[in-house]
Amino acid sequence: MRLPPRLPVLRMLPLVAALLVPAPITAAVAQGAAPRHAIIPAPNRIEFARSGTFTITDSTPVFIAADADDDTERVGRQLATMLGPGATRAARRLPEAVRAPAGAIRLVRDERFEDAGAEGYVLDVRTDGVTIRAREAAGLFYGVQTLRQLLPWSIEHRAALARRLVLPVGEVVDVPRFAWRGAMLDVARHFLPPADVKRYLDVMALYKLNMLHLHLADDQGWRLEILSRPNLTRHGASTQVGGGAGGFYTQAEYRDLVAYAAARHIMIVPEIDMPGHTNAALASYPELTCDGVAPPLYTGIRVGFSAMCPSKESTYKFVEDVVLELAELTPGPYLHLGGDEVEKLTRAEYLGFIERVEKIVRAQGKNMIGWGEIAPANLDPSTIVQHWRSDARASRDSAHLHAERGGSVIMSPGNRTYLDMKYDSTTVLGLRWAGLISVQHAYSWEPSTFLPRVPADKVIGVEAPLWAETLEKRADYEYLAFPRLIAIAELGWSRANVRGWDGFRARLGEHGPRLQALGVNFYRSPEIPWK
Ligand code: ACM
Repeated sequence: MRLPPRLPVLRMLPLVAALLVPAPITAAVAQGAAPRHAIIPAPNRIEFARSGTFTITDSTPVFIAADADDDTERVGRQLATMLGPGATRAARRLPEAVRAPAGAIRLVRDERFEDAGAEGYVLDVRTDGVTIRAREAAGLFYGVQTLRQLLPWSIEHRAALARRLVLPVGEVVDVPRFAWRGAMLDVARHFLPPADVKRYLDVMALYKLNMLHLHLADDQGWRLEILSRPNLTRHGASTQVGGGAGGFYTQAEYRDLVAYAAARHIMIVPEIDMPGHTNAALASYPELTCDGVAPPLYTGIRVGFSAMCPSKESTYKFVEDVVLELAELTPGPYLHLGGDEVEKLTRAEYLGFIERVEKIVRAQGKNMIGWGEIAPANLDPSTIVQHWRSDARASRDSAHLHAERGGSVIMSPGNRTYLDMKYDSTTVLGLRWAGLISVQHAYSWEPSTFLPRVPADKVIGVEAPLWAETLEKRADYEYLAFPRLIAIAELGWSRANVRGWDGFRARLGEHGPRLQALGVNFYRSPEIPWK
């Protein structure tokens, strides 16, 4: 048989080669048969034996290699803690040459999985033991998430005693389709406390999302402490949409969020939007305006009215100061500098600004990301363009200009991925300028062909933004994000041949009790047969 592109070329292990027989189960799920599993995102290949189970008890040991590194040790601890009741438990170390005792779960780092990339894994469940193999710790982590979803939802009730945890015997071979599987939180329009961001990260990890883009500054508020520019938070963070108290992350809180995300194999991508969407910055540092006059703080929801002065050196000194601290706080390679919806500058002023800011970002050794509007600037191919407009306006979009110079594109079309759009006309929260987005509408599109002029190999993935004009508390964010973010997660991970709306909605229905056990305020869309 022919392998789908980018499946690991499984030349190395007879065990894995044995999995390459056709997999009717996944196909049946895609066609809408009752699911034999409810894994989301759908794995590349999953096979169950006709019979047989592996039972997990409170004493089931988790083994890692004797010389396992810290990242592997953490995945082992996460798994052991998930399976056992009560407090954190560590995995045990065992030399690779030593057979694990019957009844154990083993995590194995295997260099021979080179074609599985950093995130692929193989999960092998037998009656006498379970093995997860991966080249990197990220792959082991995703294997653990799959194992978690093969277990009953009672696994999510951490304090429950004597849970009956039984796995079906079978094998999963899995590699993500896209490298970029993202979500975005707008913490500028309304401030979202760190604990709530962590909750979002927890749910993202369950669905194998790997990028959290934080929109940290907009007209209504500046949400990240910048030590060299203290008035950004002293004044610029002091309010939000509707005039509430606002708020911001100290650098210590921000570093803690970055570490919390990294422990779940999620990278935080910070965004400071500029030159527009900057009223909070202009109000805090009047040298950023052309007339030197600070505007008042803004608590409405209009866009397009603010802009940094492109002809003053003090503007670029400010950008350098901010980018310097942002780069220092960011272990990952990406800084998002916004660039959207600028109405107050000429085209030449705007493009010149973007080109200069890109140089400032690159001077810090980082790659710039910007919204679709930046594509006509003379950009370096290492910069990434995030497409956000909808079908109707896609003809006006210029992401293809960036693809033509070898640059990559993230797909966030507003009419499919904007989680702040209402589900239907009865949804109370959210907006509707990009359209109503049902769960099916969020799920049923193809990222690699959405923009006809951007070739598939330039699309590095998908991201679902959640703008927060109408959102005040965690329950509001969750109501709009779930389950649509779960649909986007499947688009990011699963190949088209294992995807399908009927199969997805059947599997998603099984996640109702799990999301409820996790305390997620998801929308019980009537499109989904919730359990
Ligand atoms: C955007 O929605 N203005 C990126």
